[in-house]
Amino acid sequence: EEVDIVVVGSCMTDLVSQAPRLPKAGETIHGRKFFIGFGGKGANQCVQAARLGAKTAMVCKVGKDFFGTNYIQNFKDNAICTDFVTQTAEAMTGAASIIVNDAGENAIVIVAGANMLLGEEELEQARSTLAKAKVLLCQLEISSHISLQALRMARQSNVKTIFNPAPAIPDLHTDFYKESDVFCCNESEAELLTEARVASVDDAGRAGQELLKRGCAAVIITMGSEGCVVLQASNPNPKHIPTAKVTSVDTTGAGDSFMGALAFYMAHYPSMPLEEMSRRANLVAAVSVQSIGTQTSYPFKKDLGAELF
Ligand code: RIB
Ligand code: NA
Repeated sequence: EEVDIVVVGSCMTDLVSQAPRLPKAGETIHGRKFFIGFGGKGANQCVQAARLGAKTAMVCKVGKDFFGTNYIQNFKDNAICTDFVTQTAEAMTGAASIIVNDAGENAIVIVAGANMLLGEEELEQARSTLAKAKVLLCQLEISSHISLQALRMARQSNVKTIFNPAPAIPDLHTDFYKESDVFCCNESEAELLTEARVASVDDAGRAGQELLKRGCAAVIITMGSEGCVVLQASNPNPKHIPTAKVTSVDTTGAGDSFMGALAFYMAHYPSMPLEEMSRRANLVAAVSVQSIGTQTSYPFKKDLGAELF
């Protein structure tokens, strides 16, 4: 099967509690609502790209349990190719415990479980499909050496690579930068990677220049309601791309919506300027923050204006 976008990444079952605020250490507070959703950064990004109309495949591992079996059905429901989704009895499907406060902010603990057992063998199975794809998308919720291996594999076949270093790790292997056509992270990840404060658009511009120096072809730093900052090796001047002002109820997974949309634009409009792709991806993500949950809040092509396509 030929696809536009391959995601090598994670699946998590999101266990979400909505509460007035995030609890302090040792504290118990009453929440108002609990729900279970499909999450994980890799799968979220894949679902958003698919909903915009991209043909996608997911390379991931889930547990041989109720959550894993359910997740495979979720991929099918979103028209995502599951040829490279495997199940293991050795670990549980990844899980994320999420608390969302009244401001729409969140705190998350992930237990990656089966995601960490995705190995080179499974990646090898996907090699020929990946080689024919237009874009590869990776994050850091699986073993980092598998993400890096996937980026290298894509590059060998001239497939564009988008790398989202999330959740960020302080001593990220330098090859991640070199293997990234687009290195895309949020403010806090940029802060961790550059060891400099990223609290303003100007800070993000400086952090972006530092990340660019490490060898990626382009850097995008997403900044929530401030939009994002885009830099390219061919044009290292930081470009601020503002976004629409919206009322957010749940920002969980907004970054993944942005990533999935970006991958869609790169695959479908390869000659569109990166700034324009980013502007459009901002607008897709802005829709996602206006309703509860991650994938449940991701728009379909039919929900969006024709000017985005
Ligand atoms: O980026 C949001 C995602 O992070 C959630 O869906 C959760 O599963 C965690 O992986
Ligand atoms: Na949302």
